[in-house]
Amino acid sequence: MTNSPVPTQGILTGISVGPGDPELITLKGLGLLKTAPVVAFPAGVGGKPGIAEQIVAGWLHPDAIKLALSFPYVRDEETLTRAWELAAEEVWQILENGRDVAFVCEGDVSFYSTFTYLAQTLQKKHPEAIVETVPGVCSPMAAVAALGVPLTIRDQKLAVIPALYNVIELESALNWADVVVLMKVSSVYQQVWEILKQKNLLDRSYVVERATLPTQTIYKGLGDRPLIQLSYFSLMIIKVINN
Ligand SMILES: C[S@@+](CC[C@H](N)C(=O)[O-])C[C@H]1O[C@@H](n2cnc3c(N)ncnc32)[C@H](O)[C@@H]1O
Repeated sequence: MTNSPVPTQGILTGISVGPGDPELITLKGLGLLKTAPVVAFPAGVGGKPGIAEQIVAGWLHPDAIKLALSFPYVRDEETLTRAWELAAEEVWQILENGRDVAFVCEGDVSFYSTFTYLAQTLQKKHPEAIVETVPGVCSPMAAVAALGVPLTIRDQKLAVIPALYNVIELESALNWADVVVLMKVSSVYQQVWEILKQKNLLDRSYVVERATLPTQTIYKGLGDRPLIQLSYFSLMIIKVINN
């Protein structure tokens, strides 16, 4: 009687695929992507492919299995935890059968990324799971490149606000930071505009929408733009100190 060999456990690798332009994937990430047997990504909304899936579409091995994982766009902790647990279990079943999983995420996988929740949930449930990450270009860096300005220089202090749920947070950041980055600005643009107007900062504020994609749009000098319909993939850079 022969025992079938126990497969070596696979590795979950979070691969940063950059802000949109597929050429901004790192060589290391690309090498792994091209050979990954299973490529997972956050599922798109309304049957459309998600942004990470679109970014890597041209690079995958033809035989790669694509695994769309559902992460609902809600703030309810219970719903989110359930989704992360389900996703982590799906991934674990593949890993324990000896196959590697590459999880691709837009921007950098360690910067406000779904990957972190997936990896943490997986390691909580299965402490033996092996997780690695490949860093990449995050959206604020892509935005400043599009604007042709540095993000920070000399001793400037930088604040990054991931999502604005109250205006006090922004006011406080404007008091101590020299440069403020507002992620997920689309839903709060109007309130932010009012604060920047009061502080006389509209001329030093920029919005970059869909940085590095063919549809990239730049808004410089927001004085005459109290309203802009922005996509979710937009961020604002406020140069509190003029330079
Ligand atoms: C959940 S965060 C993900 C950040 C991502 N991991 C990164 O490294 O940039 C989503 C937010 O990132 C910003 N973002 C991501 N990609 C962008 C792009 N191409 N252009 C402008 N903003 C972007 C937007 O503010 C969006 O609401």
